[in-house]
Amino acid sequence: MNILTLVALVGLFLSWMVYKIYTGFKTNIAKARATGYPVLITPIYPLTPLWLTLRPLLTPLLTTLLPSSLYSPWIFIMTPEWEYHPSPRLHFAHLNTDTFIAASWNGLACFTSDANVIHQVMSRREAFPKDTRQYGILEMFGANVVTTEGARWRWHRKVTSGSFNERNAGHTFREGVRQTGGLIGEWFRRDGGAGDGEREVTKGEDGEEVTETKTITTLEHDTMRWALNIIGYVGFGLKLLWPHEKMPRDVDPKLAKYGELTPPEGYTMTFADSLATVLERIIVLLLVPSAVLKRYPVSWKWGKKMREAWEAKENYTKYMKAFLAEKKEDIQAGRKEKEGMNIMGQLVRSKYDTSEKQDDGAWKMEDSDIMGNAFIMTLAGHETTANVTHFTLIELAIHPEAQRLVQRDIDSIFGRDSDPETWDYEKSINALLASYIGAVINETLRLIPPVVTTPKRVAETDQYIIDKETGERHQMPAMMPVMPIITAVQRNKKYWPAVDKTKQGPAGDLDEWLPARWFLSSQGQSSTEEKEEEENFGGYTGADTSPTLFRPVRGSFVPFSDGARSCLGRRIAMVEMVAAIAVLFQRYSVELAVDEWASDEEVKRMSKEEKREVFRKAQKKAEDTLTTAKSVLTLKLTGGRHVPVRFVKRGRERFVGDEELEL
Ligand code: HEM
Ligand SMILES: *[C@@H]1O[C@H](CO)[C@@H](O)[C@H](O)[C@H]1NC(C)=O
Ligand SMILES: *[C@@H]1O[C@H](CO)[C@@H](O)[C@H](O)[C@H]1NC(C)=O
Ligand SMILES: *[C@@H]1O[C@H](CO)[C@@H](O)[C@H](O)[C@H]1NC(C)=O
Repeated sequence: MNILTLVALVGLFLSWMVYKIYTGFKTNIAKARATGYPVLITPIYPLTPLWLTLRPLLTPLLTTLLPSSLYSPWIFIMTPEWEYHPSPRLHFAHLNTDTFIAASWNGLACFTSDANVIHQVMSRREAFPKDTRQYGILEMFGANVVTTEGARWRWHRKVTSGSFNERNAGHTFREGVRQTGGLIGEWFRRDGGAGDGEREVTKGEDGEEVTETKTITTLEHDTMRWALNIIGYVGFGLKLLWPHEKMPRDVDPKLAKYGELTPPEGYTMTFADSLATVLERIIVLLLVPSAVLKRYPVSWKWGKKMREAWEAKENYTKYMKAFLAEKKEDIQAGRKEKEGMNIMGQLVRSKYDTSEKQDDGAWKMEDSDIMGNAFIMTLAGHETTANVTHFTLIELAIHPEAQRLVQRDIDSIFGRDSDPETWDYEKSINALLASYIGAVINETLRLIPPVVTTPKRVAETDQYIIDKETGERHQMPAMMPVMPIITAVQRNKKYWPAVDKTKQGPAGDLDEWLPARWFLSSQGQSSTEEKEEEENFGGYTGADTSPTLFRPVRGSFVPFSDGARSCLGRRIAMVEMVAAIAVLFQRYSVELAVDEWASDEEVKRMSKEEKREVFRKAQKKAEDTLTTAKSVLTLKLTGGRHVPVRFVKRGRERFVGDEELEL
């Protein structure tokens, strides 16, 4: 081939590219304009998987190489945290719209923080199915209810939703209470308390009363272990232990091996550790094939992490297989299992128990369906719940006045001295959810929802969104991705009342954590709670609480998504979290640790004013730390940042006494 042919070929290719890009822009911009929403023209399509992977490297490169006039209008959508940083409202305010279409030569995408659009997109599943194209990687252990769509999803939803009933929510509440007792025991044990069951944890070795923990710098670890132990119960019916606990005698010895704190024979990791490590290293496991993980030398960069990931996956898989085999054997031998929540057990039963007449439609359940669903429940239910609980505790530590209101409500629901093990789920759950406890959790879910966006797309044919106010019809082109930005709609002034009306800026006081918001009346808000006829897809569908509280407009509060594809575990998650807050704050308060500024001795000698001063410093620092949270699958604190806290006996708070609080 001579040089001229080569030049001609390259020329041809370049003109073809130019032509492609030109026509691509032309058609896509026309389609975007036809929607009637503002259009953001971007040279790079923001949802290309390759771009999503490389953008942390490429975006800074672009901004260094190009003059800002060339990138300033669209660059934000290329940054990994634009839905969160610095405020989720910022870019919508800039573009002066709640919904816009990003148009590039090779794709279109709609981003919205409009409650009505979000409500329609989430509730019209056939018109706006879940965009499952990016979910294939989550099928490591088998297809499941999160990764499928259409008829296949319906089947998965049907077989898994059976476990999510009120009876099991009650069982989960009791397990949540028990695990929170374990968590408290762990904190006091580390700090010299006896740590043998909740009632004795606050006696030290010399029998003296221990009134506070030492500074806890591992809060996110501890809440993670707490959530993992509960999900072990929810997903597999297991009793997982804290280091200071002993296996209760009534536990089936077959199950006991999964809860042990040392690996049983044939394994090199405990069940809890293998599950925790698989969840923690999920990205590595999804991207790197097992054969590579196994052979990758430990001494190389990341070698240890890769080996750990592989080891965890091997061990976890073996546990799952053993679990499945044991359950199957039990069923075939006609042994009844103990009552309680156990998603995997229930799936095995519906496959192997021939006495339970099933009608699951045309599909036969495979073992991989059981493994896939059991695994995805742990993934969906662990990090989310852990993170919301963690952030709620930090916010409470920053806001002592909110703790006192939480405690007032716990006292009135359960009494200050009752034993949490005796708390009655059925009698108290509604009151709990409607109380200040419900409000602090709601406010965390509003401000820092773990799931930032739930990717949907338009069906195979064009669909319409109807503007409720103007009646305008927006034509949404077939197959276009639609991204409801949960963080942004949950801070949209149009739908939420302000506690602090003086606050300016695109979000007003909605960038702040103020649980009192949930007790403002919905008057003046266009609260449209019209009950629509909806098909039941399993999971909890009732209202959480009483109608006198603030009721967000539909589509404006969607931390669990909404409609057919909404979170199956919503009720379970709320129940776990209220249980944790109630048990913790019945007897303890949480305080920001001030070790950075003063020693315990110095604090003891401080005047009230000095204490207040140092506490303010800690508040400021904690708030700054929170604003650095990043979304990596879910929102988290990165780079080893954390907020140090202490738990102290109620009435023994060091910094803010009741008399100083305006309640
Ligand atoms: C605070 C805790 C939680 C939050 C904020 C949360 C949030 C969500 C959201 C936003 C979705 C929709 C995802 C999407 O459309 O891409 C979802 C789906 C789901 N969640 Fe949760 N979740 C939580 C806890 C749980 C728990 C504890 C479980 C199980 C025990 C669970 C199981 C599921 C399942 C199975 C789905 C998929 C449902 C379907 O597609 O049909 N979640 N969750
Ligand atoms: C657990 O992982 C280790 C890797 O060090 C492996 O040798 C062992 O066989 C695994 N155990 C099981 C039960 O798979
Ligand atoms: C969120 O959960 C993940 C997984 O458990 C954990 O690694 C991360 O540190 C948590 N982040 C926060 C802020 O709780
Ligand atoms: C929390 O939010 C849910 C869902 O909107 C609502 O039903 C409940 O009343 C809220 N709880 C409180 C205490 O406001």
